Amino acid sequence: MMVVMVMLGGRSLLQAGPVEHGDAKGERLHETMEHLGKLFKQVRGSLKDSTKYAAAADAAAKMEGLVLEAKTLMPEKVEKMPADQRAGAMKQYRLNLCELLGQLSQLESALVEGDQTKATAAPDACAATMKKGHEQFREEED
Ligand code: HEM
Repeated sequence: MMVVMVMLGGRSLLQAGPVEHGDAKGERLHETMEHLGKLFKQVRGSLKDSTKYAAAADAAAKMEGLVLEAKTLMPEKVEKMPADQRAGAMKQYRLNLCELLGQLSQLESALVEGDQTKATAAPDACAATMKKGHEQFREEED
């Protein structure tokens, strides 16, 4: 029987749960987040113009895919924690991203429905979760 593996960034989509990371995976989280940031900017810039909603809905869906990817990666800040604190931190990290996933799904739905009131409100919830996640898991700039 032929097994078809769907690959995303070299990793199987079937693989679930957070994984340890070395340098390459740490770099991947950075790239994933940069991509997330660009798409979020695109979505926010489309809200006043409903002719852009179809493209914005696709961008929101791509963001959901990136969040699934981010869930499998370990932030550098967590990697540097004492071993006995890592599992608890990764649990919180995962919950934070699950919350974001739900909010992005609401955003996508509003864009697909063409509901401008809902679509305009939805990014604020995402931004609040982003702020929380960054305060907790992003390393301070030097
Ligand atoms: C809409 C939601 C989000 C957007 C648009 C976003 C965007 C970004 C961007 C642009 C960066 C790289 C630039 C920088 O360091 O300032 C970044 C880094 C990071 N974000 Fe997010 N983020 C979001 C949500 C989250 C959440 C919920 C978490 C944690 C649960 C998180 C964790 C991180 C971490 C750990 C980094 C540092 C990655 C590294 O450089 O190694 N982000 N994010």
